[in-house]
Amino acid sequence: MRTPIIAGNWKMHKTINEAVELASSVSDATAVLDGVEVIIAPPFTALSRVAEALPADGRVQLAAQNCYCEGQGAYTGEVAPAMLVDAGCSHVILGHSERRQLFGESNELINRKTHAALDAGLRVILCIGETLDERESGRMFEVLKDQTAEGLKGLTPEQMDQVVIAYEPVWAIGTGRTASADQAEEAHSFVRGLIAGLFDKPVSEKVRILYGGSVKPDNVDGLMAQQNVDGALVGGASLKADDFARIMNFSVEA
Ligand code: PGA
Repeated sequence: MRTPIIAGNWKMHKTINEAVELASSVSDATAVLDGVEVIIAPPFTALSRVAEALPADGRVQLAAQNCYCEGQGAYTGEVAPAMLVDAGCSHVILGHSERRQLFGESNELINRKTHAALDAGLRVILCIGETLDERESGRMFEVLKDQTAEGLKGLTPEQMDQVVIAYEPVWAIGTGRTASADQAEEAHSFVRGLIAGLFDKPVSEKVRILYGGSVKPDNVDGLMAQQNVDGALVGGASLKADDFARIMNFSVEA
């Protein structure tokens, strides 16, 4: 049994005070939640203040949205994995499509970041996903294969315990056009198969694969009902406490 994860990616939103307020609402909403891991990813500037505001029992975990692949040094504007640990993070999101598309991050760089983050003791949420053009030209599986194999290159099966995959089709991010439950399941089961090939079956059965891309209160249940969908990485709807609370309380009952 894989414990589901609901993660909120706040992107470049929220001042420190706004972030603390939203984090408090999220933690209130988790007070009676059972059997779901909740993660929030505020912007860098708010991380340490949000960490202080979160309940000590760890029922809301903290992620950063990116990090660099070096421990320290002359890398103006970058943040080291150990700095994120110091700020109270347990997780880091890597390889988000906005990092890939807007900031030119390659699979190779994302792989180096993944190693650096794991070495510093962070858990990694590795994002993969095809563009609309890649899907429509029949290259989706090839793209997912490259992003998965190259992103996870050199990791041990033990390290895979600290890795979560997020399948986020680029055409579904921030567009309101979510993948259908069937499309998500098709990609997720493909990625789980890839991981079985790269590592082994037990690793592939343990790894959580989240879906991301316009997850909302009204589509989360259908997505979560899929066998290989183990959670959601939520952008826009994670900025609204009520919507995020409904998503955390997804229901897969018929
Ligand atoms: P969205 O973003 O929910 O706003 O589509 C998801 C993401 O980019 O992680």
